[in-house]
Amino acid sequence: MATDVHRPVTRTSHRADTTARQADGTPPAPATVVRVDGLTRAFDGRAVIDRLHLDVRAGEFVALLGRSGCGKSTLLRILAGLDRDIEGTVLVPRRKAVAFQSPRLMPWKRVWRNVLLGLPGKPERAVAKRALEEVGLNHRAHAWPKTLSGGEAQRASLARALVREPDLLLLDEPFGALDALTRVKAQHLVDELWQRRGCAVLLVTHDVEEAVLLADRVLVMDEGVIAHEQRIGLPRPRDIADPRFAALRTGLLERLGVEAPATAATPGATATPAATATAAASATPAADTARSLPAA
Ligand SMILES: Nc1ncnc2c1ncn2[C@@H]1O[C@H](COP(=O)(O)OP(=O)(O)OP(=O)(O)O)[C@@H](O)[C@H]1O
Ligand SMILES: [Mg+2]
Repeated sequence: MATDVHRPVTRTSHRADTTARQADGTPPAPATVVRVDGLTRAFDGRAVIDRLHLDVRAGEFVALLGRSGCGKSTLLRILAGLDRDIEGTVLVPRRKAVAFQSPRLMPWKRVWRNVLLGLPGKPERAVAKRALEEVGLNHRAHAWPKTLSGGEAQRASLARALVREPDLLLLDEPFGALDALTRVKAQHLVDELWQRRGCAVLLVTHDVEEAVLLADRVLVMDEGVIAHEQRIGLPRPRDIADPRFAALRTGLLERLGVEAPATAATPGATATPAATATAAASATPAADTARSLPAA
């Protein structure tokens, strides 16, 4: 039987919190927006998630890695409220949104209508337009989904998530189907949106490099639990040529059971296929440019 309590959260970003300090001068710890305790999800008697524990702070960017089939999407679906056949405690914000690897746009609705799909009341077209503008897709607001490129469709899907003003944004391999260049642009966009909106993000990815570029904290899921946690303390913008970046990537690849190549992250180096987490036998295209992301 599920204990699945959804609650609102106070919208505070851990980056915005620095003004309010405690007596000793340290910034207060941001609120927890996701609390998962003893979560178990079984299919046909097999526990895919087995007494899992997870906390996510307000405004935190968390990346989730793990081999194919380890239960990442299952966990995301539960957090999104799409699967309630669980045991344990799941506390998530009421305002949450999810974007999947495939953009899942309704082909018979124009892009702007897709963005508003499922919103309560009768939201105005301007609401969709604002979100589309944020993802740089306003000029395609009246297009049919089938006329969009893969990157455009993914941006439309992000706009649909943003109109929900989420406190928690759940992303399940949102860049998985994109070519390398479009993927890098989409990563920049998500980074920008996260910094602007200040919502917590949980990003499922097979790309270790993507995880280290974007996340405050990287989790590795295995055997139904969060088996490893790595804080990414690197300053932003992050640079894959930074030796500390390479060390974090190597450590995570090892956790995933992949041997990192010795040549990783020399200045100007291209990302290696191993770094893009073939670890979990995923077919994600390699992000092939040395890059950095905007500062927080
Ligand atoms: N509705 C379902 N019925 C039966 N088994 C399921 C169901 N949904 C997921 N599973 C099983 O649960 C396991 C975890 O699936 P899940 O989709 O969460 O994996 P994943 O970590 O997201 O994998 P990938 O990286 O390949 O996307 C798999 O073995 C899958 O077959
Ligand atoms: Mg999955």
